[in-house]
Amino acid sequence: MSTYLACFNKACRAQFAITDVLYNCPKCGGLLEARYDGIDPAPLKQIFRQRRLDNAPLEQSGVWRYRELFPFLEDLTHVITLREGNTPLLPAPKAAQYAGLKAVTFKHQGFNPTGSFKDNGMTAGAAQARRLGMKRVACVSTGNTSASMAAYASAGGLEPLIFIPHGNISYGKLAQALEYGAKTFQVEANFDQILALVRILAERLGIYLLNSINPFRIEGQKSIVIEMMDQRDWRVPDWIVLPGGNLGNVSAFGKGLREMHELGLIDKLPRLGVVQAEGSSPFYEYMHTRGASPFQPEVHPETLATAIKIGDPVSWPKAQFEIETSKGAVEKVSEQEIADAKAIIGQCGIGCEPASAASLAGIRKFTAAGVIDRDADVVAILTGNVLKDPDYIYRYHTGQLQAPNGSAIASTFGNKPILAPNNAERITELLNA
Ligand code: F0G
Repeated sequence: MSTYLACFNKACRAQFAITDVLYNCPKCGGLLEARYDGIDPAPLKQIFRQRRLDNAPLEQSGVWRYRELFPFLEDLTHVITLREGNTPLLPAPKAAQYAGLKAVTFKHQGFNPTGSFKDNGMTAGAAQARRLGMKRVACVSTGNTSASMAAYASAGGLEPLIFIPHGNISYGKLAQALEYGAKTFQVEANFDQILALVRILAERLGIYLLNSINPFRIEGQKSIVIEMMDQRDWRVPDWIVLPGGNLGNVSAFGKGLREMHELGLIDKLPRLGVVQAEGSSPFYEYMHTRGASPFQPEVHPETLATAIKIGDPVSWPKAQFEIETSKGAVEKVSEQEIADAKAIIGQCGIGCEPASAASLAGIRKFTAAGVIDRDADVVAILTGNVLKDPDYIYRYHTGQLQAPNGSAIASTFGNKPILAPNNAERITELLNA
């Protein structure tokens, strides 16, 4: 078995040791990825299934159970697991009807220990940090990454340093970072600007960077699609649709799926659908004018879906490759479309955070445009937990939600709380009204 880092840029493909502390190719500046030669796929499906009956911490993890497909660690004692992954596939007939499909299934990453898909990648990135002997780890975050990194770093004896855009992340997420003991800097800048800052600090101070530019985060996030295939007895869906911000997750999904396909674990590639928020959609714009103009970052990204409020996504070259290889598609959705889709997901008894609802809003547009067939087998990824933005939810249901430009968002599927006196007769009247 050989494991190494390789430049993702087709024209370069330089290789580096798996233990080099690198985030970009030193030769050409391209993105890096972990690569492996010599994986034997034959026993894997059975091994993965048997591990579900095992109480050992690593086998109980919905990430490390699949470790043969990201064998970058020699020594598994570096792993810190909070039993991440193990997220359910939930059928949602009402959401399917809303989106114009016969059926849709949600893979709900909000069931993770810190409430988002970031845990799948963070357990892998934190293990690599420990293997490299790093003491301090850092990330910039719109919320979920910070909560996840804080938890895994603290659980593993690393010092977490978090950088967040001041006033632009949900209190729930900030609260998690503080509670898990992270040193937290609120910086007067947006996500993209702070990422540039943190990269300088990481280099200068020898801090290990755990944003999704870190190739080991991507390796861990592959487990989301690996677990999905295991849960579906390796039946490949027609489409997997997910929201796109920094575009790390779609890059991880594409890589994981291609590798499973090359190993013969799955018999085809599903198509990948990425959905961005209208005010923060540089990847959508690029993919729809491809050839005409180079990638243009959005300098002032705006959306209430703060998780995907990213104007200069670092992983766009990988995302482009995965969309093209899978014959996928990219869509953008409005603030109203996100809010309404989110309420429908809530009505299914499932719930999610705003960015996650972009998946369903995007599917609705894909089916209306004939990109996805009504009969298609579609898995939508809900990336984060419903408790992320309770203020957003309350405002939507009471008709007080406003888009970043100040325009009102209609409470289309609103469910207002009812003010009632402490009086059984009056409440009976209200119920019968
Ligand atoms: N959904 C949620 C809930 C997220 O937290 C994020 C990213 C995304 C979607 C977008 O994923 O960046 O891989 O395309 N959140 C980041 C953070 C950036 O800091 O937590 P992506």
